[in-house]
Amino acid sequence: MAARVRSEIIVRHSLGGGRISLSQDVYTALVRRLGRRYAEQRLRIEQDHEAQVFGQGINFFHFENWYSSPWLIRNTLRLAGLYRRGLENAKRVELLKHEFALARLPKAFDGLTILHISDMHVDMNPGAMQSLMELVATLDYDICVLTGDYRGKTTGPFEATLDGLARIRRYLDDPVYAVLGNHDTIRMVPGLEDLGIRVLVNECETLSRGDQELHLAGIDDAHYFRAENIEKVAGEIPTGAFSVLLSHTPEIYRQAASADFDLLLAGHTHGGQICLPGSIPITLDSVLPRRMGSGAWGYGSMAGYTSAGVGSSIVPVRFNCPPTITLHTLHCRSQSVGPVAQPDGEEHAREHDLAGAEQN
Ligand SMILES: [Fe+2]
Repeated sequence: MAARVRSEIIVRHSLGGGRISLSQDVYTALVRRLGRRYAEQRLRIEQDHEAQVFGQGINFFHFENWYSSPWLIRNTLRLAGLYRRGLENAKRVELLKHEFALARLPKAFDGLTILHISDMHVDMNPGAMQSLMELVATLDYDICVLTGDYRGKTTGPFEATLDGLARIRRYLDDPVYAVLGNHDTIRMVPGLEDLGIRVLVNECETLSRGDQELHLAGIDDAHYFRAENIEKVAGEIPTGAFSVLLSHTPEIYRQAASADFDLLLAGHTHGGQICLPGSIPITLDSVLPRRMGSGAWGYGSMAGYTSAGVGSSIVPVRFNCPPTITLHTLHCRSQSVGPVAQPDGEEHAREHDLAGAEQN
């Protein structure tokens, strides 16, 4: 697919007041796949807000969009003599295993295994991607889910990302479901689906075992492009049915729980990526309780899990926060056990929260 995109003549489409460059094939495929209204709306949002450093999205400040941030981080680490160690840390991918006990899980799905991979940032993490391929080749699971951020940068070409994903895809068993992250363009969707990756763009799939069903929904990026539509996907799920939501960011936990989802699988935070000893993140680039920054958590009756991610962004280094993938196993839980956890309200992580600066 990536080769096909490169060989096309790039055309420019007039979209409202602005113009955006994309291949005619990709434009046609997007309109066919998503409908003209949503395809053009999403392209316009990208056109208006691509790589904006301040103001757009849930956060006020977007470090990943600031062109000087890689230079600043890299040189700070070099001066401290830590750069090479950070690069090596970012290549060693670890497998985590996690068990969920879920009250409404249909018995037919007891024991379902989900391989959860997030934040690959494929084109800027070749070492981690090699480690990922070697690791997933050894695993057995029922479904694979990818919770966004395939591209390294937040803007620019995506062909190298799709080329890298094509290599990784050979090691992943069917079916593979995905959502887009804040580093991804909607223009990647046709290429991802050509690789046999079902991208859920505010859409829902129903998995069946006998006469029992599991509803798997996925939303468009809610962190930066704010293109999610939780009401739409929740509306496609029968009342009281067991449902899982894939979202790049866990920041929509309140809306997901209110929409009666049983489980939220997310990424985006990288677990902090550069953490202090004790795995204490300096920033999660998110507005959410710090306990939701990595691993398992609960909110009301909804269970959640935030992957620390397999790739790294801005600079491919990690400290006190290894790159991970997670193999989830879903189990039925007695209805009498009660809610997973209570919300903890005011404990929110924000940008620069260790410095105490409130950004919004
Ligand atoms: Fe990411």
